[in-house]
Amino acid sequence: MPLASVAVPVTPTATPFAASARTVDVDARHITKVFPARHGGNAVIALDDVSLLIPAGEFVSIVGASGCGKTTLLRIIAGLENEYTGDLTLGGQPVLGPGPDKGVVFQDHRLLPWLTVEQNVGFGLLDLPKEEQRERIDKYIRLVGLKGFERAWPSQLSGGMAQRAAIARALVNKPRILLLDEPLGALDAITRIYMQRELEKIWFEEQITMVMVTHDVEEALYLSDTVVVMSSRPGRVKRIQGNPIVRPRDRENSTFQDVRRELLIELELQTKAQFAYEI
Ligand SMILES: Nc1ncnc2c1ncn2[C@@H]1O[C@H](COP(=O)(O)OP(=O)(O)OP(=O)(O)O)[C@@H](O)[C@H]1O
Ligand SMILES: [Mg+2]
Repeated sequence: MPLASVAVPVTPTATPFAASARTVDVDARHITKVFPARHGGNAVIALDDVSLLIPAGEFVSIVGASGCGKTTLLRIIAGLENEYTGDLTLGGQPVLGPGPDKGVVFQDHRLLPWLTVEQNVGFGLLDLPKEEQRERIDKYIRLVGLKGFERAWPSQLSGGMAQRAAIARALVNKPRILLLDEPLGALDAITRIYMQRELEKIWFEEQITMVMVTHDVEEALYLSDTVVVMSSRPGRVKRIQGNPIVRPRDRENSTFQDVRRELLIELELQTKAQFAYEI
């Protein structure tokens, strides 16, 4: 059962725990990632001693200034980046590479243009018996609200629809965790709010762990049990904020607005510190 109705106090915690005593899904300890110097430039410390424990079934958002290492952290959890120091396990097992237990959704949908929606969604299932492929494809296409568009080509979809197809493609393997890197970043404001509700519904129905990178603090607070604020240069976890608002969340709620404001101030301070000049 996701932490749908559990209120977490509005205090930053000193521990790396994203929430209290529940089964830990992502256990990342002292992760440091350095991109070596190239072409005479400096090495970049993308992540510096990042520790984060994410309980199973939790929705966690990661926010932070551009370049603070959010995508790098997500790629490491996804098994797409192997050169780092520190320890990382997913469900108690070391993360050795990408796999069907880890679904990933990027900002751009990355659908294959020469395959239809259902072919894209079923692309990772080709080893399964035909009947099971069919069942899973149908289930997830329905879950993301694309029933009737199975035979459409990616070029015939709106941005929101293409992103739904990408989410279905990530879920069809029944991953234990879904990692989303600014999945709604390219959508207009109204579609984005609609898709946030859809994403919450999917999370609730699938009961899986979701970790989402976003630049939008309101989106993070609307969707997440916990918001992780990162600081940049080098990328570190600056604050772990439990969400005090019970679902379904009302963006107009005064506590929602207070926490949102607090997080924005924190992010703005970081962004100011990042630039050496002001206009
Ligand atoms: N492949 C790479 N080679 C060298 N440096 C990299 C590479 N990928 C990322 N970096 C550097 O690592 C730092 C963190 O990058 P990352 O993409 O994780 O940031 P981010 O928080 O996702 O930023 P944004 O919000 O703009 O997407 C940046 O300084 C970036 O320049
Ligand atoms: Mg990024």
